[in-house]
Amino acid sequence: MSRIAIVGTGYVGLTTGAYLAHLGHDVICADVVDTKVVQLSRGELPIFEAGLPELVREGLDCGRLSFVLGATNAVDDAEFVFLCVQTPQGEDGSADLRYIREAAAEIGPLLQAECIVINKSTVPVGSTRVVEQSLERDDVFVVSNPEFLREGSAVHDCLNPDRIVIGSDDQAAAMRVAALFESLKAPLVITDPASAETIKYASNAFLATKISYVNALANVCEAVGADVREVVLGMGYDKRIGFEFLKPGPGWGGSCFPKDTRAMVHIADEAGYDFTLLRGVISVNDEQHERMVSKVERMVGGSVQDKTVAAWGLTFKARTDDLRDSPALEVIRRLRERGAIVRAYDPATMNGEHPSLEGIDVSVDPYPICEGADVLVVLTEWDEFRWLDFAKVAGLMKTPRIVDTRNLLESAAIRRRGFLYDGVGRA
Ligand code: UDX
Repeated sequence: MSRIAIVGTGYVGLTTGAYLAHLGHDVICADVVDTKVVQLSRGELPIFEAGLPELVREGLDCGRLSFVLGATNAVDDAEFVFLCVQTPQGEDGSADLRYIREAAAEIGPLLQAECIVINKSTVPVGSTRVVEQSLERDDVFVVSNPEFLREGSAVHDCLNPDRIVIGSDDQAAAMRVAALFESLKAPLVITDPASAETIKYASNAFLATKISYVNALANVCEAVGADVREVVLGMGYDKRIGFEFLKPGPGWGGSCFPKDTRAMVHIADEAGYDFTLLRGVISVNDEQHERMVSKVERMVGGSVQDKTVAAWGLTFKARTDDLRDSPALEVIRRLRERGAIVRAYDPATMNGEHPSLEGIDVSVDPYPICEGADVLVVLTEWDEFRWLDFAKVAGLMKTPRIVDTRNLLESAAIRRRGFLYDGVGRA
C-alpha cells in the first residue's frame, strides 16, 4: 500500500482521497481553507454527494485518511502526490493554471526523490510540462491521470471506472500509478501526457455534443410531430450510438461541460484549428435555454411579465447541490429579466442561501410555491418530483399548466389531472 498526498479537497480531490483510502492506501488530503480542514477532519462534508460521507468516515475511523492545512504539511513523506486544485476558466475560455503552478512550486522543494506528481485537475494539453517546470525537480516524475467522475454518482464512478487513463513519458512511473488502482480491475489506457490530457477534454466535449445533438433533434421532433423519446429509443439500440447522454433538457451545465467545451475550442484555436462543430454545440446549448423560456411564454399566452412562475429544481442536474452553471438558474434569470415573479423549490438547496439564488424566493416545500402560480416549470430531473400530489398542485395553481424541461413527468397522467402540459421534443 502506498503513501499518498492529495492537494485540494474539492469534488475531485475529496472523492479521490476517500476512495484511495478505501482501496487501502494511506492518504493525507491538504486544503488551504482551515475551516474546511477542521470540518473534514470531523467527517463533515462541504458538498452533498451520495456515499461520500460514509467513505470519508470509514477512512477517518481506520486512520488511513486525514486532512491537513496546506500542501507543505502533506507531501514530505508521500510516494504519490495528486494535484486536484481548481482550473477556473480564464477570460478567453482558456483554463487558468495559476493554482496548479502555485501548488507545484510550493511542494517542489519538499518532495522525496522518485516521488510521482499526478495531475488530476482538468488541465490543457502541455500542462504536464508546466508542472514539471514549476516543481523544479529532475528526480521526480509528473504523470497525467484525468478524472471522469460525475457529480451525484462520484463514489460509484471512482470505484467502477470505465477506464483509467495514465499519461506519462516514463513507462515505469506509469506502471507505478497503475498499481494504485489495480484492485479496481478497470481497463488501462497508458499513453503520452498530451494524449491523456486531450482525452479528458475530448470526452467531455463529445458528451456535450451528444446532448446538444439530441436537444437540436428535439426541436425538429416538435416541428414534425415526432416524439424524441421514441426516436432515441430507436437510435439507441444501435450499439454504435447507445442510449446514454441522449436525454433532451434545458441544456447542459455544471462545473465541467461549459468550461471544458470552451477550453477545447480555445485549445484548437491556439493550435490553428477552428473547431466550428464544437462552436455549434455551444450555440445550440445557449439557444436551448432560450427555447425553454419561449415554452413558458407560450404556455402563459405570450408574455411572462408579472406572471408567477413556480420552478421545481435549481441545481444543474439531480442528486447534487451544485448550482454552478446551472441551466435551471439561467432559465430563471431570463424569465425574471422579462418580468416574471419566480418562486422555486429544490430538494438540495432548501435554505436558499447561495449567492446565485439572490432575488429568487426559495421555499422548503414544493407545494406553497404553486399557490396562485400561472405556470409550473420543472427544471431539474429530481425523481421525487414525479411522486408529488398533482391533484393538490392543480388545486393550488391559478391555472394548472406545466412546462417540463426534463420530460420527467408522465404527460398523459398529468393531462388527466387537468393540466396543460408541454415537454421537450414531444408533440
Ligand atoms: C461530467 C462528466 O460526465 C464527467 O465524466 C466529468 O468528469 C465531469 O463532467 P457532471 O458535470 O457531474 O459530469 O455531470 P453529467 O452527469 O455529465 O451532466 C452534465 C450536464 O448535462 C447536466 O446539466 C445534465 O443535466 C446534462 N445532461 C446529461 C442532459 O441534459 N442530458 C443527458 O442525457 C445527460
